[in-house]
Amino acid sequence: MLDSLFQLLFSAIWFILPAYVANAVPVVFGGGSPIDGNRKFVDGRPIFGQGKTIRGFIIGLVAGSIVGLLQGVVLNQLYTYFLRGLLLTLGALLGDLLGSFIKRRLNISRGDMAPILDQLGFVVFALLLTGPLVLPGWDVVLAILVVTPPIHLAANFMSYKLGLKSRPY
Ligand code: CTP
Ligand code: MG
Repeated sequence: MLDSLFQLLFSAIWFILPAYVANAVPVVFGGGSPIDGNRKFVDGRPIFGQGKTIRGFIIGLVAGSIVGLLQGVVLNQLYTYFLRGLLLTLGALLGDLLGSFIKRRLNISRGDMAPILDQLGFVVFALLLTGPLVLPGWDVVLAILVVTPPIHLAANFMSYKLGLKSRPY
């Protein structure tokens, strides 16, 4: 019982890993010019806000894709895993952008918390984008949705303690 639970947890994290890396790396290496060029939407608020930068997006894209590539090397299925990693990565980054777009429309300032959206938006989008190519079993999808919020919160808290983030969430 405990054995298969660990197996499920491992499968979930193994599958979604490129998305996690794509989401985490910009916190460390991001910054600089914002993707929206500081432009405002029709409501007068930022399109995405200054937390979504070009450098963060590109570095996230490269790092997440490399993780997919490495998974492919490990399993000797380079092309399949690279493509999967690329889609998961793109999905995570676009989902994160969409999350910020939604937050700005709801008048939630850059860096303020949007519960659920902040912790789950990027993986849901990553799964949606990867879905047409490959979807893991429903148990793995469910496990991803259950473990991601606590992992995301713990990683952010650690980044805050390490001085990488100004907010603990
Ligand atoms: N980051 C970045 N480029 C991205 C995504 C993230 O540079 N495409 C960096 C920014 O420094 C950002 C940090 O990672 O502040 C944390 O990311 P996130 O929590 O997604 O952004 P927030 O600053 O909280 O902004 P928002 O309210 O829009 O989510
Ligand atoms: Mg945030």
